[in-house]
Amino acid sequence: MKSKEALTMKTLETKLLITEKKKEVKLAKVEARREDAKRKAELDLRMLALKQTKAMKDLLAEERDIMMMRTDGMDEDQLAWWKETKADIMARKKAAREARDASAQGVEEMGILSLITGKPGASGFGSASTAEQVTAGIDASALTVVVTGASSGIGLETARVFALRGAPVIIAARNTEAASEAKKCITESNPTARLDVLKLDLSSLKSVRAFVDQFNSMNLPLNILINNAGVMLCPFQLSEDNVEMQFATNHLGHFLLTNLLLDNMKATAKSTGIEGRIVNLSSIAHHHTSPKGIQFDELNDKKIYNDKMAYGQSKLANILHAKELSRRLREEGDNITVNSVHPGLIMTNLMRHSLAMMKAIRVVTYMMWKTAPQVILRAVHWI
Ligand SMILES: NC(=O)c1ccc[n+]([C@@H]2O[C@H](COP(=O)([O-])OP(=O)(O)OC[C@H]3O[C@@H](n4cnc5c(N)ncnc54)[C@H](OP(=O)(O)O)[C@@H]3O)[C@@H](O)[C@H]2O)c1
Repeated sequence: MKSKEALTMKTLETKLLITEKKKEVKLAKVEARREDAKRKAELDLRMLALKQTKAMKDLLAEERDIMMMRTDGMDEDQLAWWKETKADIMARKKAAREARDASAQGVEEMGILSLITGKPGASGFGSASTAEQVTAGIDASALTVVVTGASSGIGLETARVFALRGAPVIIAARNTEAASEAKKCITESNPTARLDVLKLDLSSLKSVRAFVDQFNSMNLPLNILINNAGVMLCPFQLSEDNVEMQFATNHLGHFLLTNLLLDNMKATAKSTGIEGRIVNLSSIAHHHTSPKGIQFDELNDKKIYNDKMAYGQSKLANILHAKELSRRLREEGDNITVNSVHPGLIMTNLMRHSLAMMKAIRVVTYMMWKTAPQVILRAVHWI
């Protein structure tokens, strides 16, 4: 009997011990959770403080930049423009980050890798597709197109593919002999191509006006304007209007041309109900320019001329032109879209002033270089 009581006592003691142990484990867990929550709150606070310090650092850096720009002679309007542009860039970076995140979640986006590999994007086309593939089956016979600098390179291929899809195309070129040769080449493979060659030297404002007069005298509508012509890295030279040659050709000439053709484009879009398109061929080289933007006061200064910065500046002007024109047309309710595009890399006559350097660059970036039919895809894509 005694031993039975002893056994019951032992069992009770064991049960008590187990219950105690369970309580201890539970308490330890609660304590650990409390510690974790405390640590997380501390970390949150530290992260917030870091964020605030970074925001403070950005604010101070901005204040310092503004001070320096004021000292450099920037007026309040220019400063306001600088601030607005900076805010715009930040917003774009944020959007790009968000797009990248979305991409990571399965939404397709064309990145640098797809540019190299040619992997098709959501549209089914990639950087290895050609303009002919993208426009297959499209009837463009109702669209009149002007392509500047269509006597060679990207412009020539653009004109060829538009003509192939039935569009009447005006080849606007400074060298009409080369342009006529280009026209002959296109018509040999496509006898029904509707092509006209008109003289246009974009480095001369007089020539731009003369081109528009001639175009207007043809009484044609205008749906699409491809501002493609360009020069790159040429030695310092002034145009006949006394403007640095790359800026005069790549931007000023196209700026005037677009303005003079705009009424026709607006009227065409209105009467046909077909959205008009303006495409400015820009370049990734627009990054290579003064951090203060376009230096209008120093454009023609031969002493500080840098051929690469001058090209970058002219290509930045192409983008800003497209952006502002697009905003104004939207505001006025005109049915015309304006885009600027970096077409990709292709060895063309554009490299004539920098052939050795471009060939050297191509050696290390060869995977990113394309053929003309592939490059033009990007321009066509934006149409
Ligand atoms: N190739 C690339 O890798 C690349 C990269 C980024 C951006 N881009 C841009 O793409 C566009 C086309 O370049 P591309 O590579 O096709 O070069 P391209 O073969 O040299 O073609 C340029 C065209 O512009 C014409 N042009 C030059 N100055 C002119 C002027 N004052 N008035 C009228 N036409 C003029 C040229 O005529 P001439 O034959 O008489 O010189 C030529 O027909 C350019 O805007 C360039 O900045 C090209």
